[in-house]
Amino acid sequence: MSPQLFSSSLISPAVQAHLPEGYLIRPLEMADYHKGYFDCLAGLTVVGSVSEEQFQQTFESMLRCQNVYYIVVIEDQKASRVVATGTLVVEQKFLRGCAKAGHIEDIVVHDSQRGKKFGIRLIDQLRYLGTAIGCYKLLLTCSETNEPFYQKSGFERKDLHMAQYINHPLPPPQQQQQQQTLPHSQPIPVPVPVPKRLPLPRLETLHCPQLVNSPP
Ligand SMILES: CC(C)(COP(=O)(O)OP(=O)(O)OC[C@H]1O[C@@H](n2cnc3c(N)ncnc32)[C@H](O)[C@@H]1OP(=O)(O)O)[C@@H](O)C(=O)NCCC(=O)NCCS
Repeated sequence: MSPQLFSSSLISPAVQAHLPEGYLIRPLEMADYHKGYFDCLAGLTVVGSVSEEQFQQTFESMLRCQNVYYIVVIEDQKASRVVATGTLVVEQKFLRGCAKAGHIEDIVVHDSQRGKKFGIRLIDQLRYLGTAIGCYKLLLTCSETNEPFYQKSGFERKDLHMAQYINHPLPPPQQQQQQQTLPHSQPIPVPVPVPKRLPLPRLETLHCPQLVNSPP
């Protein structure tokens, strides 16, 4: 079986029960590289070109950060295709007695499959995960056009979201790994050019928190 990013025991049976027949909600798997995961993600933003090796290295590095990355997919089992995906990133804090906050990211439903409540099911699943893991709040940012969708999932507008994009290329993953394994006595080469100050992107995203207070 293809490695999964987290335990499938954290998938909500109720969310699965609400999906149409032939669709499975589950953790991201290594094999999803060949099941259209990137086609699905491309409905959200620029994906860039990611080789299978890069995908596997990134998957493995997420696996090593235990209890942080939870990427969920919905698969059309007949077609063996990923039709929807969403991510929960768990942030460990010192605040509030070492509490955890959940960040919802990269929610996308393949454009051929929208309007079937897959978006809502993804959010339900990520809330289930956040509750099971013990997050005290869930946060996300979105465009004004998606605000009604998130409101239907129980989120509300709060505060202001700000962003600054940093324009320097990172070394390829292999080089990054070599840098991390250098002995402490050696200076770590950091090939970072002085970042150019970029015009700030338009602040058109909303910041939508949700308090999580019910057990799964
Ligand atoms: C936003 C998105 C995830 C919604 O997924 P979906 O599966 O089509 O949405 P659902 O079928 O679960 O919709 C649930 C409800 O939200 C409503 N809804 C969905 N998107 C909406 C939008 N953009 N504006 C207003 N209402 C919306 C639906 O009409 C539905 O309402 P209902 O319960 O009254 O019938 C999907 O359109 C998408 O992938 N968009 C492109 C990527 C993107 O923008 N992602 C969000 C990043 S923050």
